Amino acid sequence: MSALNGKHILLGITGGIAAYKSAFLVRLFIKAGAQVKCIMTPDAEEFVTPLTLSTLSKNSVVSSFTDKEKNWNNHVELANWADVMLISPATANTLSKMVAGKSDNLLLTTYLSATCPIYIAPAMDLEMYQHETSKTNINQLTNSGHIIIEPESGELASGLEGKGRMAEPENIVDFMSQHMLKQLPLYNKKVLITAGPTYEPIDPVRFIGNHSSGKMGYEMAKTALNLGAKVILISGPTHLTLSHPNLELIKISAAQDMFDHAMLFYNDVDIAIASAAVSDYRPKTYYDQKVKKTEEDTFRIDLIKNPDILKTFGQQKQHQFLVGFALETNNEVENAKQKLEKKNLDFIVLNSLQDKGAGFKNDTNKISIITKDDIKRFDIKPKSEVAKDIFNEILDMRFNNKTNA
Ligand code: PMT
Repeated sequence: MSALNGKHILLGITGGIAAYKSAFLVRLFIKAGAQVKCIMTPDAEEFVTPLTLSTLSKNSVVSSFTDKEKNWNNHVELANWADVMLISPATANTLSKMVAGKSDNLLLTTYLSATCPIYIAPAMDLEMYQHETSKTNINQLTNSGHIIIEPESGELASGLEGKGRMAEPENIVDFMSQHMLKQLPLYNKKVLITAGPTYEPIDPVRFIGNHSSGKMGYEMAKTALNLGAKVILISGPTHLTLSHPNLELIKISAAQDMFDHAMLFYNDVDIAIASAAVSDYRPKTYYDQKVKKTEEDTFRIDLIKNPDILKTFGQQKQHQFLVGFALETNNEVENAKQKLEKKNLDFIVLNSLQDKGAGFKNDTNKISIITKDDIKRFDIKPKSEVAKDIFNEILDMRFNNKTNA
């Protein structure tokens, strides 16, 4: 999944021959999962039609301060809608107006209203690009914090050869998604998450398990991926599935298997979160054949302890930020605090089966985040939102960085 997935991209198109490439650009953004709105300068309409761009972007395209019915095209609303603005192609004329703060068309007015990151892909002829004024303008825009996507070299519309042609749409999309990925708070960080139930086999047809669906753990994996992390998700049996280039999904069944895999990765991760409902015990004996019913009224299964994955994480903790879960039915806070301490955690997420809509299976959860000296209680909300609250807390505590995860 690209870092552009789900992003609102405002594409500003100015009047140069490279404007025809905007159609390809819009298609690539949409393919990457982004939403696109286009603003054109009046001159850009000579090179590519608004109809082409509105058809591809599935949004109306604007180029003047009012529409045909004399309704105002609200530049502030457009600017607020954008997560990111790209001006491409950016002509020498538009670059100089941006530097001067001019606002004589809708694109420039929207640019001046935008508070989101601004990417600029200049496109002009050889001598224009090499002109001192263009260089000064580009430097000034860079110094203002804008990101320049350098033009490429090759044949120019004038017939000259050299640097100045707008970067190819594929390269613009790659550049932006890589650049945005690197801005994410968990870029280059590794997160290990355990999720779902474990099944402890009795015989080939029976097991000891629990009601965990894996939803809580999978939502946290999605959030971590959206924050730029590489994620190792070790999952017990669930119907859920997830795929992403930065995800290693390892499906296991029993607690011992979860433990073995988790320990392979633990030393190397920055954050470990244990949300799995791991069986504390497993049958001492595994029967190769299905156990037959006998005449006796009772049947006894001896259980032995499984390794405690989270406790082992706590014992071997070095640089890792460690988060555990506590699923409780009574004495919730007290029990959770004991686990926090015994397992050497940075914080524990308490969910109680006393709360309707919390814990197993539901799409919602109601949690408290408990640290050594604080309890934060959260309202009931979708597990996707709960996952964001948990990562906000991690970012705040570990990296002093709250985000809209
Ligand atoms: O999967 P869902 O249907 O979305 O439900 C989510 C959930 C209710 C399973 C989840 O929110 C949750 O509470 N997970 C932890 C459940 C649990 O087993 O809690 P516990 O209090 O028994 O264990 C305490 C902590 O130790 C947990 O982080 C657990 O993962 C860990 N543990 C426990 C035993 C063991 N052998 N190894 C462990 O790592």
